[in-house]
Amino acid sequence: MSVFASTDDPVSTGHEQVVFCQDKQSGLKAIIGIYSTALGPALGGTRFYPYASEADALADVLDLSRGMAYKNALANLDLGGGKAVIWGDPEQIKSEALLRAYGRFVESLNGRYYTACDVGTYVADMDVIARETRFVTGRSVEHGGAGDSSILTAWGVFQGMRAAAEHVWGSPTLAGRRVGVAGLGKVGKYLTAHLLDDGAEVVATDVSQRAQEWARTTHPQVTLVDDTAALVTSDIDVYAPCALGGALNDDTVPVLRAKVVTGAANNQLAHPGIEKVLADRGILYTPDYVVNAGGVIQVADEIDGFNFDRAKLRATRIFDTTRQILRLADDEGVPPAVAADRLAERRMAEVGRLRAIHLR
Ligand SMILES: NC(=O)c1ccc[n+]([C@@H]2O[C@H](COP(=O)([O-])OP(=O)(O)OC[C@H]3O[C@@H](n4cnc5c(N)ncnc54)[C@H](O)[C@@H]3O)[C@@H](O)[C@H]2O)c1
Repeated sequence: MSVFASTDDPVSTGHEQVVFCQDKQSGLKAIIGIYSTALGPALGGTRFYPYASEADALADVLDLSRGMAYKNALANLDLGGGKAVIWGDPEQIKSEALLRAYGRFVESLNGRYYTACDVGTYVADMDVIARETRFVTGRSVEHGGAGDSSILTAWGVFQGMRAAAEHVWGSPTLAGRRVGVAGLGKVGKYLTAHLLDDGAEVVATDVSQRAQEWARTTHPQVTLVDDTAALVTSDIDVYAPCALGGALNDDTVPVLRAKVVTGAANNQLAHPGIEKVLADRGILYTPDYVVNAGGVIQVADEIDGFNFDRAKLRATRIFDTTRQILRLADDEGVPPAVAADRLAERRMAEVGRLRAIHLR
């Protein structure tokens, strides 16, 4: 096994540490990116993906780990931001030996980095990694894990949407509003249930026949439309992207009829500057990483021994955080995405600075 520092200068990207991990026998090639431990150990999942090149894997881990620092800061967690990527096709190379080799690298960081699930890694994989390291969350319920994180992700998105509704319409409820949900997957399904309970009308779309069937049988009052293009141009008050990234792009934003965008999908803004186009059109966008933090709140809670009620209470506070961001955006005359970044940077600087007060 070997550990070596990146030849890229992590300082230039703002990262504290980038660790390259290799175990030739098992085929493991991984990169762990620690963007910040200012607020505590860096937490972020492990993405297992067949990147075209090491440069692509590195770019992704640098980007994702930075994003986690901002997300964890605004989730009010005592955790910094990190992420890891395993470079390779999980279908071809995932094995007990590879995952355990990876677990030993995570352990070697002595708690500076906690891992969890991401694209290509699952709860069962975390259980295997946990045989080599204490610094892993998102394990199975039998192993003290928090279970399905989409439950609190959906709850948090709903809270963020309530805060947006209050900002735009004066009352923190979706009752009587038409909400367009794109993607009836794990999160979209729970979100739909919260919206219907609150008295909203739901219009939805999903490419999967099974998801459409679920809506027809479980919630026949949901109106299904053909695709996302039909959803964004329909008469909706709120658009909730809950499928893939890049939902807010040059095709959708100019024709979007909703006044509010709040959804679970990561990286909704397709490119820098699109948040300004939304603002210019008078559309309120609640930053994705703020409202979809319920999942990370859920897995972070596992570190202290999982307690669902405590985690739910923390996820409920996404309402207050979203409200604070929307007010700051108004006060400082910037889009909410910019206000959120400023608030996260402020917390990392103000609270992170306290580590200079030595205790012994
Ligand atoms: N699950 C979590 O805890 C969590 C946490 C944070 C962020 N997110 C993000 O939220 C989003 C949804 O997560 P999920 O766990 O529900 O995923 P999922 O895979 O269970 O659901 C995604 C759904 O979107 C549908 N879909 C895919 N392409 C579509 C398209 N073009 N139009 C309409 N529907 C389409 C799929 O058929 C699927 O039903 C993802 O972007 C994910 O990264 C999830």
